[in-house]
Amino acid sequence: MAEFKSIGVIGAGQMGNGIAHVFAQSGYQVLMQDVTEAFAAKGVATIDKNLQRGVDKGKLTAEEKAAVLGRIRTTTQLEDLAVCDIVIEAATEKWEIKKQIFETLDRVCRPGVILASNTSSISITKLAAVTKRPEALIGMHFMNPVPVMQLIEVIRGLATSEATFEAVMELSKKLGKTPIPCNDFPGFVSNRVLLPMINEAIYALYEGVASVESIDGIMKLGMNHPMGPLTLADFIGLDTCLFILNVLHEGLGDPKYRPCPLLIKYVDAGWLGKKSGRGFYDYSKA
Ligand code: CAA
Repeated sequence: MAEFKSIGVIGAGQMGNGIAHVFAQSGYQVLMQDVTEAFAAKGVATIDKNLQRGVDKGKLTAEEKAAVLGRIRTTTQLEDLAVCDIVIEAATEKWEIKKQIFETLDRVCRPGVILASNTSSISITKLAAVTKRPEALIGMHFMNPVPVMQLIEVIRGLATSEATFEAVMELSKKLGKTPIPCNDFPGFVSNRVLLPMINEAIYALYEGVASVESIDGIMKLGMNHPMGPLTLADFIGLDTCLFILNVLHEGLGDPKYRPCPLLIKYVDAGWLGKKSGRGFYDYSKA
């Protein structure tokens, strides 16, 4: 079974810094790459803040926090990932960007090194096809917030080998997470089930069935969900929700996935949810 010591993470954003955080907290050496030093530094600052929360609650000592941070290095050069035993990509959800990253990783990483993607909706099979190692491509879909959420959705591409799959399942368990497998179809399982629910909540708002607060309150209290669907949409990012719905709509060809016009309008307005300060709720004063 492959042994992993040094973990590469592409992207220091919301998902990338969370992934770097959990690997470093489990004792792995992490090299986190982003396109600018400022982005990478912002990712490290977020990890610092999230670890500090644990220190303040007495769940972690200041020394342990320092040791976790000490295991994280950053770079702006994809080529530096050549030293890594596995790389997990969590870059922007744009095909052209991911294609270029996987072509480069395939060129610089040792033969046999597993290349995983945290994509929420781009085909693992299609990403694998841009490399000369399709058997070593796999989806490792972490959930947000990564340090808190138990699940890793492990997605097998058409060519993913059994050895790659088993190695990633075992590595995920070493992080204290629960990996659950599925096959590579649009939206996998998580987003194929979650996004239609969110979209339907937006349609309910659009059609005047209830207010934002009522829709969220009914779903939160009635279904025992930790967040209502509109709060969750704001948390995920409305642009990301729209992107995933378009992938489902185009990939499965079924009109039941058509994005609600209200969601499209919000994204056009730049109302992207929590990250932009405005979505279904107003975060500007938070
Ligand atoms: N990083 C690290 N820790 C965090 C955190 C973050 N960003 N946000 C919250 N936490 C921790 C808190 O410190 C707290 O820790 P303790 O239990 O040790 O005290 C714990 O999480 C609970 O946080 P809070 O008490 O502040 O708040 P909460 O009880 O309301 O929980 C939540 C917050 C965990 C986010 C919860 O509301 C929740 O589970 N929401 C649903 C999240 C969800 O559905 N995620 C999946 C999104 S879809 C996705 O990611 C896939 C995709 O492709 C779109």
